[in-house]
Amino acid sequence: MRIAMIGTGYVGLVSGACFSEFGVTVTCVDKDESKIERLKRGEIPIFEPGLDKLVASNAAAGRLHFTTDLSEAVTGADAVFIAVGTPSRRGDGHADLSYVFGAAREIAAAMDRYTVVVTKSTVPVGTGREVEKVIREARPDADFDVVSNPEFLREGSAINDFMRPDRVVIGAETERAREVMRQLYRVLYLIETPILFTSLETSEMIKYAANTFLATKITFINEIADLCERAGADVHDVAKGIGLDGRIGRKFLHAGPGYGGSCFPKDTLALVRTARDLGAPLRIVETVVDINDKRKKAMADRIVAAAGGDLRGKTVAVLGLAFKPNTDDMRDAPSLDIVPALVAAGARVRAFDPESMDEARKVLSGIEFCDNAYDTMAGADVLAILTEWNEFRSLNLNRVKELMAAPVMVDLRNVYEPEMMAKAGFTYTSIGRPWPYGGRGAAPAAG
Ligand SMILES: NC(=O)c1ccc[n+]([C@@H]2O[C@H](COP(=O)([O-])OP(=O)(O)OC[C@H]3O[C@@H](n4cnc5c(N)ncnc54)[C@H](O)[C@@H]3O)[C@@H](O)[C@H]2O)c1
Repeated sequence: MRIAMIGTGYVGLVSGACFSEFGVTVTCVDKDESKIERLKRGEIPIFEPGLDKLVASNAAAGRLHFTTDLSEAVTGADAVFIAVGTPSRRGDGHADLSYVFGAAREIAAAMDRYTVVVTKSTVPVGTGREVEKVIREARPDADFDVVSNPEFLREGSAINDFMRPDRVVIGAETERAREVMRQLYRVLYLIETPILFTSLETSEMIKYAANTFLATKITFINEIADLCERAGADVHDVAKGIGLDGRIGRKFLHAGPGYGGSCFPKDTLALVRTARDLGAPLRIVETVVDINDKRKKAMADRIVAAAGGDLRGKTVAVLGLAFKPNTDDMRDAPSLDIVPALVAAGARVRAFDPESMDEARKVLSGIEFCDNAYDTMAGADVLAILTEWNEFRSLNLNRVKELMAAPVMVDLRNVYEPEMMAKAGFTYTSIGRPWPYGGRGAAPAAG
């Protein structure tokens, strides 16, 4: 089979490479010429573990191609996937669908046979029908079906998520379109992955309901963490205690600085807008959005407090800038709220992230970018962990102490154990874990 993947970003490139691994001939298209040039040279424009090898082997096997010419890719394709961005529209929070409709018009002009047009981008309910109209208006003669096939991969483990998903959701309304999709996902069908066929609207809704549910789960444990701080309870153990309940599950119960990234913030907001427009407001999700925004903004206060209430003239070492480990993606990362607030409070900020430094330089100013974790700490008054990269989990604490002006750590990802930090002689702030450790009001054990 042959497919075209329109948009070669985090989702398009991973999906394209994985379909080619399934044996499909894939042409990935992007408007960004430099991206396509780099891919043709064998360079990967994003950081995603394992993607370099997957792209190289499938390109060498002649199954994976890259082009800026959309019509060349669409001609002769059995299915065309739209995997372009759907960012928040400025001002109102609705999903900006201009890239989706732009791609649909270009696809319409190039189709030369029965084609299944698949929206893989996350799009509000009703978009599939609109895509159908856009194509029909441009090409009344065209033979096509529109299908919704939302993507659930997570950056950082994207290949495994695509190759071994919990489920595949396909909104398709003709048997002909369902058959093309069955063929494309044959490999997953053979390993008994649940494949759920629904209507277009239901499929679109499933994606938003899944993301807003997960964002709600994170926000729930974040609020429980705040309560734990007041009550002398340990959110780490509370999360374990509730997560072991099969009805709740352990994932997405890590208290932290608030969710960020390229999906949850924009998708929660877009669903809130859709629900209001349709006259069925989602009050839980509205509250989640509000709590999360305020939480990210309030995180800098913890660092100010750890520095004794005043950051003027002080140095803060920041470890981690990407919204989560194993990605270089900076979109809506908590660091984008926290770091500017530290600078505004008068701090000198020295920061390091293993993969996102190039992206971070584009969006953060007035700070010093360092070459490695220890480099950030020279003379620092506070060390703040913003992203839980593995290499920050096993810092040599003696070396950290020697480098810093004072052994003060603010751990917004609960990477370290309070007891261990006390023994190592640090003043330590976590999210929702008792300090001094051992319960409310216990004697400090630092020394
Ligand atoms: N990033 C994730 O983890 C993730 C996970 C699931 C779903 N999604 C959804 O997938 C979609 C894509 O997200 P992403 O993170 O891959 O975005 P991205 O910004 O990384 O990539 C989008 C790409 O599309 C290209 N593009 C835009 N219009 C085009 C056109 N007409 N022709 C060719 N190329 C075009 C852009 O140049 C860009 O390279 C979004 O709707 C997102 O919500 C993302």
